[in-house]
Amino acid sequence: MPSLLIRNARILTLSAGSRPRRGKELAELGVIPQGEVLVTAGKITAVGPKVEAAAEAEVIDAQGRVLLPGFVDCHTHACWAGDRLGEWEQKLRGVSHTEILKSGGGIHATVRAVREATKKQLAAHLKTRLDAMLRSGTTTVEIKSGYGLETEAELKMLRAIVRAGNEWPGTIVPTALLGHAFEGDLDEYARMVVKEMLPAVSKEFPDITVDAFCEDGAWSLEACVRLFEKAAKHHPLRVHADQFTSRGMVPEAVRLHARSVDHLEASAKSDLLLLAKSPTMGVVLPGTGFHTDGRYARAGFFVDAGGAVALATNCNPGTSPTHSMPFAIALAVRFCGLSPAEAIAAATVNAAAVLGFSDRGTVAPGQRADLVLLCHKDERQLAYELGGNPVDVVIANGAIVR
Ligand code: NIG
Repeated sequence: MPSLLIRNARILTLSAGSRPRRGKELAELGVIPQGEVLVTAGKITAVGPKVEAAAEAEVIDAQGRVLLPGFVDCHTHACWAGDRLGEWEQKLRGVSHTEILKSGGGIHATVRAVREATKKQLAAHLKTRLDAMLRSGTTTVEIKSGYGLETEAELKMLRAIVRAGNEWPGTIVPTALLGHAFEGDLDEYARMVVKEMLPAVSKEFPDITVDAFCEDGAWSLEACVRLFEKAAKHHPLRVHADQFTSRGMVPEAVRLHARSVDHLEASAKSDLLLLAKSPTMGVVLPGTGFHTDGRYARAGFFVDAGGAVALATNCNPGTSPTHSMPFAIALAVRFCGLSPAEAIAAATVNAAAVLGFSDRGTVAPGQRADLVLLCHKDERQLAYELGGNPVDVVIANGAIVR
């Protein structure tokens, strides 16, 4: 494959500072106002105002537009079957998420559809969503299981996620969401997960991250902690906490060295301060507040306290039916208190850190060549524009894929 030279670009390198970025560092985009990037064999090999390139290199003239790292969507439930349109209409009439969940709808409706679908069907639905994500500039996506609630169905989801990822030019990262909901008695169900589901998942996916949803109507604090204490021996941990109610999960997640606590809409300031001082990252998901109840995580407060924040779509059929990271950026700036620059860092370098990647999320020599060229010359347009697609060219692993 010949080298690729992108010239005449406003480059957001995001290349200085700690990984993950905390506090004030988040606003440092490391801009080269007019520069060039050379890509060879899937890697970025040179970045600067002027770089040396072979005469036969393919050239993209960016015409002064913004070039930045491909987006990393670090929290999605993008593998599902069926739809939740009827339930959405109920919600529009005022029925709450918790009421729907407790009456067997919500996550359970998707569980029924996922159980009925084959692995091939799940992978095909997911692939359609992954392609839409790619067109909006996402080159790395985390995708959770959690709609199976039976060992075989959870494994089917994880296998479908891997299968869809194999046919996609970006990178997928499966996560085992083993504590998403439950059937019957929570204690009994959680015991089954620890005794049967976790070992089966560990055997087939030894390095996979384990996740749970600590919430009224979902998993209790005690059930989450029991699962995490077992899983932590072999797996990184992440947790959904404080989405609707705060149940004491943030201090436990910090104690358990979880990689991230995701949601945080209902977090007390004291918990945000505790999280900000810890190595555990906060992940904010403003698509959910936008689609459901208008509540948003106080990411600005968290960053001012020195926290390491990441941003994701939470793409799922119930609470956040969006695949677009530019839309998540637009919402985070309007509702979570992040500046456009902070939201861009949260969607790239910091989101990569949540997934344990240090080979992407910045534009620097040696990094994987996952890049996005915007339609615009000012990166603030990413946050400003609503409902369109500000992405022109997408490069994944060195290949132009859009
Ligand atoms: O993040 N919090 C738990 N899970 C999803 C909801 C998934 C669904 O409703 O299907 C969320 O909102």
